[in-house]
Amino acid sequence: MKNDALIIDDLHHKYDKKEYSNWILNEINLKIENGELLGLLGPSGCGKTTLLRLIAGFEYPSKGKISLNNKEISSNNKILSPEERNIGMVFQDYALFPHLTVMQNVMFGLKNKKDRSRVDYLLNIVALDSFVDRYPHELSGGQKQRLAIARALAPGTNFILLDEPFCSLDMHVKLKLRSELPNILRGCNASGLMVTHDPEEAMSICDKVAVMNEGKIHQIDTPINLLNNPKTLFVSSFILGNNIIKLEKYGNSIMSCLGVINNSELLNYTNIKKMSISPKFISIKKSESGNAIVISKEFLGEYLIYKVSINDNILRVRTNINNLLNNGDKCFLSINKDSFYFLYPGAHKVYI
Ligand SMILES: Nc1ncnc2c1ncn2[C@@H]1O[C@H](COP(=O)(O)OP(=O)(O)OP(=O)(O)O)[C@@H](O)[C@H]1O
Ligand SMILES: [Mg+2]
Repeated sequence: MKNDALIIDDLHHKYDKKEYSNWILNEINLKIENGELLGLLGPSGCGKTTLLRLIAGFEYPSKGKISLNNKEISSNNKILSPEERNIGMVFQDYALFPHLTVMQNVMFGLKNKKDRSRVDYLLNIVALDSFVDRYPHELSGGQKQRLAIARALAPGTNFILLDEPFCSLDMHVKLKLRSELPNILRGCNASGLMVTHDPEEAMSICDKVAVMNEGKIHQIDTPINLLNNPKTLFVSSFILGNNIIKLEKYGNSIMSCLGVINNSELLNYTNIKKMSISPKFISIKKSESGNAIVISKEFLGEYLIYKVSINDNILRVRTNINNLLNNGDKCFLSINKDSFYFLYPGAHKVYI
């Protein structure tokens, strides 16, 4: 069985410490196994950086416990300083020392400056071994971020925190470096927690993803499980980009803004309030007698995404690029055959 690198137990935090104010972090529980990369995913302001700062030791929690490698590092009766925690940190703006070379930047945190073997190993892993004498301003953005990762791992830590590490890189470099990150960590037997607000980024490289909103973790799961079983409406809309539609029961019928939902399976669920459905499972057809109106249009490579207003709801609909409509066009929307949706509460998956 794998051991846990990081365990967070019932963590709560607020900056102002006032009794009546809301928690910035509310009842956070999570585990990261040795060798695992966990993505922390959520919208701006939901508390991602705050959680990282508590783990790193730059903030003290209001309540709760953090353990790293089976050692308590933060609790009611014990708070270790950031230096005592031996955690590597990587920020979005690199935070390199401009007056030190590549080699000196990586050597900086080493307790034993003679221990060149780990530095050489790391520079090789991040493919900077032929740049050791350059200064940060002589490196590209991707090289700077690889240097920041090597520097974070150099002092022999096996746990790193990364706060939006690819944010300031252009698309091409971002894709390359993010596919390299899991291998770099594996090469050093390190585990990590990576903050991002980009679902695709988290889903593509992390072993597991923790989805957070307004200080609470909604679900921690593998990317595939998040896609197949989004436990809350927030996970459904934030990760899958699904439409959330209100449902109302009238006798044996279920009404929605798309009309009556004809599915006998729905009647098994007595307490259903909402459904979540992917934009790709809704069809759009131009019609002068249509009850919906196109309000915006976005080209997305192979697809078109329309925002459509229907019975006081705004839905997103994905269609192929030949199905051209203009803003203001009237249209009909319908749920495709051979699709599925989720019902809440309960996250029941229903096939059509
Ligand atoms: N030092 C601070 N003092 C008081 N409030 C703070 C402080 N730092 C952050 N906050 C507040 O805590 C909440 C969470 O902020 P945090 O920086 O953790 O969000 P985030 O999820 O990292 O957002 P982003 O994606 O924009 O970086 C926000 O409402 C923010 O205004
Ligand atoms: Mg942040």
